[in-house]
Amino acid sequence: MLSRLEAANRYIRENKHRVTNRPHYHFAAEIGWINDPNGFIHYNGEYHLFYQYNPYSTVWRDIHWGHAATKDFIRWDYKPVALANDRWYDANGCFSGSAVEKDGMLYLMYTGHVTGEDGRVIQRQCLAVSEDGIHFEKHPANPVIGERELPDRYMPCDFRDPKVWREADGHYYCVLAVRNEQRRGEIVMFRSEDLVHWRFHSSVYRTEEAQNLLLECPDFFHLDGKDVLIFSVMPCDPEYADQVENHVAYAVGRLDFGTGRFEPEARGVLDRGPSFYAPQTTAGPGGERLLIGWMQSWRQGGLPDGFEFNGMMTIPRRLRVEGAKLLQQPFLPNGEYFAPVHSGEAELAPGRAPVLLTSGSGRILLELDRAEAEELKGNVLEFRLQEKDGRAIRVEVDAAAGQIAVRNDYEDGEPGRLDVSTDGGLALELFVDLYSLELFVNGGEQVFSLTSYAPKGFVSKVSAARPVRLRRLESFAFRPPGRDTSRPS
Ligand code: FRU
Repeated sequence: MLSRLEAANRYIRENKHRVTNRPHYHFAAEIGWINDPNGFIHYNGEYHLFYQYNPYSTVWRDIHWGHAATKDFIRWDYKPVALANDRWYDANGCFSGSAVEKDGMLYLMYTGHVTGEDGRVIQRQCLAVSEDGIHFEKHPANPVIGERELPDRYMPCDFRDPKVWREADGHYYCVLAVRNEQRRGEIVMFRSEDLVHWRFHSSVYRTEEAQNLLLECPDFFHLDGKDVLIFSVMPCDPEYADQVENHVAYAVGRLDFGTGRFEPEARGVLDRGPSFYAPQTTAGPGGERLLIGWMQSWRQGGLPDGFEFNGMMTIPRRLRVEGAKLLQQPFLPNGEYFAPVHSGEAELAPGRAPVLLTSGSGRILLELDRAEAEELKGNVLEFRLQEKDGRAIRVEVDAAAGQIAVRNDYEDGEPGRLDVSTDGGLALELFVDLYSLELFVNGGEQVFSLTSYAPKGFVSKVSAARPVRLRRLESFAFRPPGRDTSRPS
């Protein structure tokens, strides 16, 4: 009999040829469903990314941990599945978690999800260890944090997503999301000397009862002299689904390791688009803080026919704190993979809409100084991305009013809206791929991520409702690296 892990790997080997339409430069699974990024870490000279994974179908079920590695975030090497749900303590899923290196070995800390015969759910924290970064052994002491370690005032039915790190004091800490006695979301912290024995340390962050929130996938790190807490937000119970929209929030402030509480100075929303959830960060080799998110959301509807994969990851974003503001900048190598299509000035007028990208994927840059931004009143300027047969993802820029609207003709629903500052001009950077758009505004002050499934053969253009001269407009087509990645758009 094959183990569940061997069965998953064999299924992937035998069926991955069915997937012929992966995105050009966004990470997607070999086949099947993915959600959250997990265990994101720079280890042995490469970035490793694990992810919530069901190889067998395009829906969420029986969650394993998939695994891939990369040096440049464009070329990914798929590795064997790292974890399957094959123990009593993770029988119904190996849920989200993180990675840490200790004594040259790679440790994964994840949530074992179990639904009892009576329907009762219990979530506990588990460890898996690897010497080669590829094959993982579940730790004999599992689960390493369970009902015994969790104070009584918390509910083990929602106790998940450990994010672990080694602090300068030499101790290991992890933050986790939990449901408290008011049935609301809270972030708690545990502490350990050895990653195996854990003690409850503190409540780091509580939500108010009236907010009706549950939290998931917390992340914590020090950056630019501040502490940053990131978490995903959902309704605490189904009756609040109309009131609370899933999103990702952050707080910049200070974590007092004595009291164990986080004191926020500023808060914000990480991404204003409909397709961004459960991000995770890691430190790059130069100490840079990099973030990757799941570019799909629980709310989104079906896939088009013929899709054998579901879910993608965002491109990596490099984080910075300026004042108490969290900035996110795209972190992809440029020259080698993106070839110039249009550079410099552009004269636009009704009927004159230059094509910026023909190949289906690439990157577009627009920079307006303050005076130009003030001239662009009304919805004069429109990017028409993935345009085909009169339909497009339309990014309307009303620079004078400081407003951007994103309308997607391929899906029903309200347009996305961004209020942007034009005090220092306006800079837009758009990453377009076969099924997605990521829009970075003003050096990463705001980001908007959207997944969308336009038919093949589209182009991306820019148009204007009256004559406009743009002084700095550039576009770059994604140029697939030699090996095996030139998929038709
Ligand atoms: C977030 C999440 C996590 C959980 C995982 C299960 O998207 O709900 O809280 O660990 O997905 O797949």
